[in-house]
Amino acid sequence: MSREISITALKYNPSNPKSKPEFKTYTLEETPGMTLYIALTKIKSTIDHDLSSDFVCRAGICGACGMVVNGKPRLACKTLTTDFPEGKIDLLPLPTFPLIKDLSVDTGSWMKNMSVRVQSWIVANEVTDISKIEKVVEPSVAEDVFELDRCIECGLCVAGCSTAIMREDFVGAVGLNRVARFSIDPHDTRTDEDFYELIGDDDGIFGCMSLLACEDHCPKNLPLQSKIAYMRRKMVKV
Ligand code: SF4
Ligand code: FES
Repeated sequence: MSREISITALKYNPSNPKSKPEFKTYTLEETPGMTLYIALTKIKSTIDHDLSSDFVCRAGICGACGMVVNGKPRLACKTLTTDFPEGKIDLLPLPTFPLIKDLSVDTGSWMKNMSVRVQSWIVANEVTDISKIEKVVEPSVAEDVFELDRCIECGLCVAGCSTAIMREDFVGAVGLNRVARFSIDPHDTRTDEDFYELIGDDDGIFGCMSLLACEDHCPKNLPLQSKIAYMRRKMVKV
């Protein structure tokens, strides 16, 4: 039997001087298998065409649909409305990221700055000889790299992080996970000293307070805390 649910969302457009933050509540009929993505799409097409939120893939892959749902950062497309037995759902935009409008935030600029800050690319200080066969990588090492590469840059770990709220330039679990990924990749010739130059400060590896929220909220179940601990152990030895 279907039920009526109510969804309350922040409405605010910071680029419009006349706009003031307000909450709007929408009531709608819950349908079988309804996700927040489906519910918001229904609200946008039938009740409030002006409500803004981001989606691309609807499948937990693009990382665009992060928002705070009843106090916790979640992906809207992977959150079922039936997860909330009371039928009341409060939505806020992710904190830490610049607000674009309503539930839509700019995670892209934040991720780009973080990527530049931690130099999120392979650095190989050697000339590649294309006449030779590729460097062999142990399957177990390749699996470890692929495991950390599953990050979708959704920003939920950053939104749940107390340090990220206090320190504007903190690279977050997503950035530290990225450094761990390159540090175990045999194609990357950077040393621990090189990585220390990038993250050996309070905006990097020493800013984390080990509150574990990043790992609690990561929709890809990445081993963020163990990788942060792994990098911290390496960095204190430099
Ligand atoms: S580490 Fe997890 S929570 Fe953080 S951005 Fe990547 S996928 Fe999202
Ligand atoms: S729409 Fe792509 S992760 Fe939700």
